[in-house]
Amino acid sequence: KKDVLILAVESSCDETAAAVVRNGREVLSNIISSQIELHKLYGGVVPEIASRKHIEKINQVIEEALSQAGVGLEELDAVGVTYGPGLVGALLVGVSAAKAISYAGRLPLVGVHHIEGHISANYIEHPDLEPPFACLVVSGGHTHLVVVKDYGKYEIIGRTRDDAAGEAFDKVARAIGLGYPGGPKIDKLSKQGNPDAIRFPKAHVADAPYDFSFSGLKSAVLNYLNGCRMKGEQVVEANVAASFQKAVIDVLVEHSMMAVEEFGFDKFAIAGGVASNSSLRQAMEKACRERHIGFYHPSPIFCTDNAAMIGAAAYYEYMAGTRHGLDLNAVPNLKL
Ligand code: KG4
Ligand code: ZN
Repeated sequence: KKDVLILAVESSCDETAAAVVRNGREVLSNIISSQIELHKLYGGVVPEIASRKHIEKINQVIEEALSQAGVGLEELDAVGVTYGPGLVGALLVGVSAAKAISYAGRLPLVGVHHIEGHISANYIEHPDLEPPFACLVVSGGHTHLVVVKDYGKYEIIGRTRDDAAGEAFDKVARAIGLGYPGGPKIDKLSKQGNPDAIRFPKAHVADAPYDFSFSGLKSAVLNYLNGCRMKGEQVVEANVAASFQKAVIDVLVEHSMMAVEEFGFDKFAIAGGVASNSSLRQAMEKACRERHIGFYHPSPIFCTDNAAMIGAAAYYEYMAGTRHGLDLNAVPNLKL
């Protein structure tokens, strides 16, 4: 069987990324140019700045991905690109670049859903992982509990009603003065704190057992901090971080395991930026072990936004016959 080589491009938020992936699972190169330092100044991603920075970086990142993989345009089988969901101006940069390469190299163009990319990140380091399985996608923009029925076939069974999990991490981190992005900082600080120090609420959504809600938790943390300030009590940031993190993780684990049991899966995966959280991994690992379920998670570099995961997803879409024309557009609210 002939190898399938895919050049993948990702620019949906604040990472300009390109990768070359062989047969959907073997990463030949994975180049990521992060804009985090730039957006840090504003406490979050500024869409207009993101678009402009993508334009500055995209060609260089793609060239680097090809040269590091030692692959020329003529050896590629297809170009894969994230076309949604995400920031429209940011997405357009990657989509336009991918279309240009597709046209110039006479290569098939395969548009990929960003969440499908995050899920597919699990295929890269787990050759044994194949659908069906359940996957919790937790990132800065999404909190989805997804049933992966087959390659390219998904059913979202639970989602957040308000903030995404990563968004909650970022907002709470800002409130306790840790800066942006907050996820990794809360993860680190929590190791020095007591997760049982403060009881924060764990929200459940009535009649929607797999849905999530994090805005109440975020408000509870803010109220707690204000209360301390008013009473002149000292805030132990590490305890706030650890207790908040535990409240998030408990709900994520509870809902995920409920789904796994209800649907009878023997495999469970996590994906997205928050999936690199060390305590979340430990908690999920334990919950899966207790239920004799296989637990899968990508390495941190494949959790946060990257193009290798887009290449993995694009491979399965390509094999299933998905082809997009040069009229492919960015779709900021693309459905899975
Ligand atoms: O997947 P991603 O790079 O971008 C989106 O598609 O949203 O996820 C970024 C999010 C941010 O909210 C960041 O704070 C969070 O992932 N994150 C973490 C950790 N590392 C990144 N959250 C908790 N613990 C971490 N270690
Ligand atoms: Zn993402």
